[in-house]
Parts: sequence; C-alpha cells; structure tokens
Amino acid sequence: MIHVQDSVLQQKIEQLYAYNQGHIFRFWEELNDTEKETLLVQINKIDVSILKELLALLSGNEKEISGFFKLEPTDVMTLKNRINRDNAVLPLGEEALRQGEVAAFLVAGGQGSRLGFDGPKGIFPVTPVKQKSLFQLFAEKLQYLNKKYDTHIPWYIMTSETNHETTVRFFRKMNYFGLSENEIRFFKQDMLPAFDKAGKIIMEEKHRLFFSPNGHGGSLQALYKSGSLADMEARGVKHLFYFQVDNVLVNLCDPFFLGYHIAAQAQMSTKVIRKTGPEEKMGVICKINGQDGVVEYSDLSEEETFARTEKDELKYWAGNTAIHMMDVKFLSTRAQRGAKLPYHKAEKNISCINASGEKIKTDKKKGIKFETFIFDLLLDVRKSFTLEADRGKEFSAVKNKAGSDSPATAKQDLLRNYAALVTGAGLPLSVNAEGLPEFDFEISPLFAQSVDDIKEKREQIPAITKGTYLGD
Ligand code: UTP
Repeated sequence: MIHVQDSVLQQKIEQLYAYNQGHIFRFWEELNDTEKETLLVQINKIDVSILKELLALLSGNEKEISGFFKLEPTDVMTLKNRINRDNAVLPLGEEALRQGEVAAFLVAGGQGSRLGFDGPKGIFPVTPVKQKSLFQLFAEKLQYLNKKYDTHIPWYIMTSETNHETTVRFFRKMNYFGLSENEIRFFKQDMLPAFDKAGKIIMEEKHRLFFSPNGHGGSLQALYKSGSLADMEARGVKHLFYFQVDNVLVNLCDPFFLGYHIAAQAQMSTKVIRKTGPEEKMGVICKINGQDGVVEYSDLSEEETFARTEKDELKYWAGNTAIHMMDVKFLSTRAQRGAKLPYHKAEKNISCINASGEKIKTDKKKGIKFETFIFDLLLDVRKSFTLEADRGKEFSAVKNKAGSDSPATAKQDLLRNYAALVTGAGLPLSVNAEGLPEFDFEISPLFAQSVDDIKEKREQIPAITKGTYLGD
C-alpha cells in the first residue's frame, strides 16, 4: 500500500484498498511528482460512502421499474382541454414573471457524446442563417421575456468538470449575449468514477481515473451546494424553469406552463408531448404505484410499450420533454435534508488503459457509468402537474450527429416555425406540404416569437428571400 503524509488522505487510500481498488496505485512507482499529485487530487474527490453504494449496485440488480411496479397512465392537461383553460391561468404566469419570481435553470453538464461535437453542446451552432449557438438562442429568448415583462430573469447554468471552463469562456467572449453578467450563475455538478464489470474503477491513464458527470439528477445537490438555491431565495425567486441544452424549440419560462403550475400548487410540473409511436425512444410519465414518475422507454415491458386504450389510443403516450417547473422551497428543503436520487447504471464504451498501462480503444471495453435522473424527484413530490405541449412548436432535440434528433432535423423544425409565424401573420411565403419554406431564413427570438409579434412589426419586415434575417 502506498503511504502519504496527509492522514485523511491516507485513510481514504486505505479504504480504497479495502474496497478492492488497489489497482489504482499499480503504476505509482513510475509516476513523476506531478502525476502523483494529480492522482491524489482525484482520489480526494472520491466520496467513499458513495463508492460503497455504487459497488453494491454493481453486484446487485438495479430495481427494474417494469414488472416490479404497477403502472397506470396519469392525468394530463391535454392540448384539447387546454383550449378552455389556457387564458384562465396565463395571468398567474405572467404576474409571476413580472414580479421577478421566476428563474431559468439549464442543465448543460452532459458530455453530448452522441453528437460527437468537440466542446460543450451549448456552443454548437444551430440556426439556419446566423449559425447561432444553442446558448445564444436561449439567451435571446430570455432577453425577449425580460423586455416583455419588464424583469430580469436570473439564469442558472449547471456545467461539469468536463465543460465548465469552455462554457464560461464562451459566454464571456460573447459578452453574455447582451444579458447582464450578474444575472447568470454557473456552477459545476459532481463527477463519479466508472467501473469495469469486475467492480474496479476504470483508469484512463496511469495517473488518472475515469470520471464522468453524475447525471442531470446531480443538479439537486449542485444547486444547493453552489449556493444557487440560497441565491434564488435572496432574489425572491419562487419558481424554477428547468430545461436541457438540446431543445432548440424550448418555450423558455412559458407563462402558460408557469400559470398551470402555480394554479395547481404543484411542487414539480412536467411538460409532455405525444410520442410519435410506441417505439419512440422517449421516457413516459405515468403513475408508478399511484405516484407520478417517469419510466424510461427501455424499462417499459413490450406489453406496456404497445398497450392501447379502449379508444385505441396509445396508453403510455405522454413523452417526457425534460422540461419542468419546480418549486424553489421544495427543492431547498429536499436538498438540505440531503435527499438522494437513485443511481441508474449504464453500460458504455470507455477509453481506458490495460494491465500494462497502455491505452486501449474505446470500443474494446464496456464500462459501467452511474447517473441520477432529475425526473426521479417526481416520486418524492406531494403534488405534480403534467401539461401537454405541441411538439412541433416546442420540442426538437439535438442529440445525434445525423438522422432523427440531429442538427438537420432541428434546423428544419426551426424553419418550419419561422415560416408558420410569417404565414400566420398573413405575409407572403410559399411553403411545401410539410410547412417548410423553399430557402433558409431566420427570425431572432428577440425579434418575434409569436404571430402577434410579426403582425406588430409587419411594416419593418422586408420580402422574405433566401438568407433573410429578422433580428433586433
Ligand atoms: P443527455 O441524456 O442527452 O446526455 O442529457 P448527454 O451526456 O448530454 O449526451 P450523450 O448521451 O452523451 O449523447 C440531457 C441533458 O442533461 C444534461 C445534458 O447536458 C443535457 O442538457 N446532463 C446530462 C447534465 O447536465 N449532466 C449530466 O451528467 C448528464
């Protein structure tokens, strides 16, 4: 066993040996002083109590939702039912925005490995003409709301060790996209080691363990530990709009959603969309033993996946968009009490070193990563509310390099929405059967986000042709 002067660290090292992790120090004698220091810093970051839990999970069976639990569809305020209710709740949402009671919360700590972009996903260019990044798109949506409701919506952004510096640098370089610097708060989530099938922590180099972000569920503790929840309370923020980095159509701080959430006195609300079909890879919200929760598509049995109602509709149709409204007090209480979300394990290709310390290719080794999911918090709320949104207007995710949920589909969805605003306001634009214009053009969220905005500005709008950009 290796020995270090720091007694706390020494104790940790001993615990690691006790948990069969002595291989971490296999190359110790070969390391130079800087490398030794790097390894010790990483070891210091390991929470041994969590390690014990993860190792137990590795050897046991993760509870499968399907089969263990009784699932039923949950109550959803559907698009059809919203027609008669939207206008009643809107003033509640708008008033909360005007009063500064709302903050936006973006989780952007993920690695975006499916997209294969070298850098934080938020800096990926998505708009058709100006090639604006996802971050810029969100910032402009916030600015629009700030202006419309004469407010300053604080924006909390969770990053991780893997992308924090690049993210913060990008915002600085872009001058915070016109938002005020003190309205934006960045903080990091925690990281977790990954394991091989024998329960050994994976080493990516002789002096470096493989760590990855602990899942979007890590946001609960990260919000608390970073002081962000306290900051919200100090600013008088009561409602937190949670969203993910990949949805180009996100309806940020949607006043209708907010209104429903407030009217329902919910602690956590969820926006859902109708799944395109039973096999769409999307988690569904439903009742799990009587309590609202999300079941991952891979956890639904075949029977549940394809189940239909008496009206021959898909039984579990309510796809989770990962857009939530959360009550800040509820989050504070849970986080202060050290509430923990369950770990889920996933098999991944992880680059690592072999027994002689040589790097081996990523596709050669299957590792196990652990993550927590924010939607598991639903299982802990007293009251939750679920609202259906129009997929075409509010959801288009950039997940993959190509094919479905890719930059190409996101661009088409943006174009379709721009075109709908223009034609909805009665301006000339020819579109095909899919609602797509014949050429690329772009509308900044600062310029218009509704047909009414376009109507108001119609005098300023030139004939729309290839490359037209309507911006402020
Ligand atoms: P995804 O499930 O798409 O994961 O995250 P990912 O890591 O970004 O992408 P892949 O799977 O490697 O391709 C959904 C959202 O949750 C955030 C992501 O940044 C994204 O906004 N997230 C995910 C975190 O903030 N932290 C995490 O540990 C994981």
